[in-house]
Amino acid sequence: MQLVADVVSMKDEVAEWRRTLHADPELLFDVHNTAAFVADKLRSFGCDEVVTGLGKTGVVGIIHGRPGGNGPAIGLRADMDALPITEITGLPWASRTPGKMHACGHDGHTAMLLGAARHLAATRNFTGSVAVIFQPAEEGGGGGREMVNDGMMERFGIAKVFGMHNLPGLPVGQFAIRKGPIMAATDIFDIALKGIGGHAAMPHLTIDPIVAGSAIVSSLQSIASRNANPLESVVVSVTKFIGGSAYNIIPETVELAGTVRTLSPAMRDLAETRISEIVRGVAAAHGVEASVNYLRNYPVTFNHADETDFAADVAESLAGEGKVERNQPPTMGGEDFSFMLEARPGAFIFMGNGDTAGLHHPAYDFNDDAIPVGVSYWVKLAEKALAA
Ligand code: NI
Repeated sequence: MQLVADVVSMKDEVAEWRRTLHADPELLFDVHNTAAFVADKLRSFGCDEVVTGLGKTGVVGIIHGRPGGNGPAIGLRADMDALPITEITGLPWASRTPGKMHACGHDGHTAMLLGAARHLAATRNFTGSVAVIFQPAEEGGGGGREMVNDGMMERFGIAKVFGMHNLPGLPVGQFAIRKGPIMAATDIFDIALKGIGGHAAMPHLTIDPIVAGSAIVSSLQSIASRNANPLESVVVSVTKFIGGSAYNIIPETVELAGTVRTLSPAMRDLAETRISEIVRGVAAAHGVEASVNYLRNYPVTFNHADETDFAADVAESLAGEGKVERNQPPTMGGEDFSFMLEARPGAFIFMGNGDTAGLHHPAYDFNDDAIPVGVSYWVKLAEKALAA
């Protein structure tokens, strides 16, 4: 392991920041305390510019390299938001707010990028500029999209972007990455069904939206099993089925909702088209009225080839040979860094969090032993990308 020496010595302090953030989790764009903490730290490090309020509550710190050196800026990105989960760890730094918790390790991501910013601002061993990007609302709000739409890339001359996420189950000190799609597009849909309600004992006088809804749920399974090429990936999950109020009443309406996960534009188009066709067809067969609302949410997180090789090489230079999986299978989870990768070339890498509870689990905690690894990765990546 070839960690950056100065980074190893700051581990305890970065862990302290991490635990401070962990105790005060904030959701979506409502990350005011976290963003203020980040901006204060960036100013105290001597960043050349600290901009707040980008993409509503995002923060960007700009660090220029050696005087006289010029070149492009690279963006290093962390996420700041927590999840609506009640923590059960019982740790001294556990969430102080019931119903909110850093269960995805964004506290660790933010603290590690702050550690890297401090080192880069103190040493400036690079040309060009580094933009450290702290985004809100990764967990469903599209904070990355908001920052891109706010003109972040153009404003700071960002030429390439890099992201990192911890991964439970992967040992600390190891990395995993792949070229092309590494995380899925995450679309959502709502289906409204309207029949004719009535007495459960006289179903012939009703048009039962529960039976129609059940048939729709079953038929939607055929998108993955019959419509999609078996060598491609698609998930269609119905996650809400809302209707009815009593044992003896057939309801008038039913609402369904769910999510679609795909790794290619062709599968995304196929799933959207087939959901609409199946709902209309099955609803007609049952005589219920149906409407479908399909929303394209986060796009595929697509790693660019050259930047993926570069990121993997940087990771290997610190983790050692055999510690970087370069052909990590994609996951069907989503990631809002995808919007930044649509705007600029770059790569998103997984870093081992060791044998902890899984992401989004109430017993999860970011592994502070990973801090020197993550901070070293950022520092080496910036210094190599912007080498004199
Ligand atoms: Ni996350």
